[in-house]
Amino acid sequence: MILVVGGAGYIGSHVVKELVQQEEVVVLDNLSTGFISLIDSKAHFIQGDMGDESVLNNIFSNYDIDAVMHFAANSLVGESVQDPYKYYYNNVASTLVLIKTMLKFGINKFIFSSTAATYGIPNVELISEEEPTNPINPYGRSKLMVEDILRDFSNAYNLNFVALRYFNAAGAHKSGDIGESHDPETHLIPIILQHLLGERENISVFGTDYETPDGTCIRDYVHVTDIARAHILSLKALMRGELKSTIFNLGNGKGYSVSEVIKACEVITGRDAKIVYADRRSGDPAKLVASPDKIKKELGWVADLDLTHIVRSAWDWHNK
Ligand code: UFG
Repeated sequence: MILVVGGAGYIGSHVVKELVQQEEVVVLDNLSTGFISLIDSKAHFIQGDMGDESVLNNIFSNYDIDAVMHFAANSLVGESVQDPYKYYYNNVASTLVLIKTMLKFGINKFIFSSTAATYGIPNVELISEEEPTNPINPYGRSKLMVEDILRDFSNAYNLNFVALRYFNAAGAHKSGDIGESHDPETHLIPIILQHLLGERENISVFGTDYETPDGTCIRDYVHVTDIARAHILSLKALMRGELKSTIFNLGNGKGYSVSEVIKACEVITGRDAKIVYADRRSGDPAKLVASPDKIKKELGWVADLDLTHIVRSAWDWHNK
């Protein structure tokens, strides 16, 4: 049985939807940013906080949990600069309680959602896991702190973990039942689609003077369905005892600029966007593109779905 913490969130809910086909799943979520409607009905749901040891004690006593997947984090870069306490408390301190408690119950398999924000501003075209980590905001630092904790716990307490550094997660489930929904929404693709649906007046492009071919930021967009599949492959490898202390990038290895993403959305939806050129958003690196070679080599994972699939699926979800 697998415990999915944060299974009511955007990425967690996509993983749960795949995982319930193969495993019994318990979801723990405090619903602070997640939605109960996103949780697959085959999963057991417990509303509570991962930093609440009594909640965890109950779960680990009542369910036969083999591994824990952890998606429950605050993940807005700007907010983390304004309110770092929230990020260090929820993303680090509460995670520490979760890991300590699972180890107390003899559970030592853990999958962690990390981020490309751990790299900061890289100097390379394609970022491998060997690149130095110099996060430039509290969100990225909170995720890197947990990675460090995981490494130390792996050495000291025989914890086996996989940390997956997501690049730009996007897209929606093919069923159209679940997709990306944040309040407030800050991510590029949902913002563009909300605008094209008439729910926003325009799209602000944050910065046109970056050192990129068209001056706008380049990102590596990876479909949430591909991300979910990477989690399941990682979980299976952990269960087989093949991974011990592993970090993988999750990206396509191909970057698109903000202008290219807007263009792709216009073409796919057949609608024209009203664009406002705005100042740079603080904390945005010019270019973040993954080298996905390591996870390909070790788990055979490659992203199947490209930007077109991402935008089509997200458009279907937004229309629903
Ligand atoms: N952007 C705009 N206008 C918008 C929204 C975004 O121009 O209205 C731009 C951003 O400036 C950025 C790009 O679109 O250049 C992508 O922005 P997102 O907010 O969609 O995603 P980020 O790259 O900022 O963030 C993602 C994850 C974070 C993670 C980060 C790593 O969502 O969790 O990658 O850098 F920290």
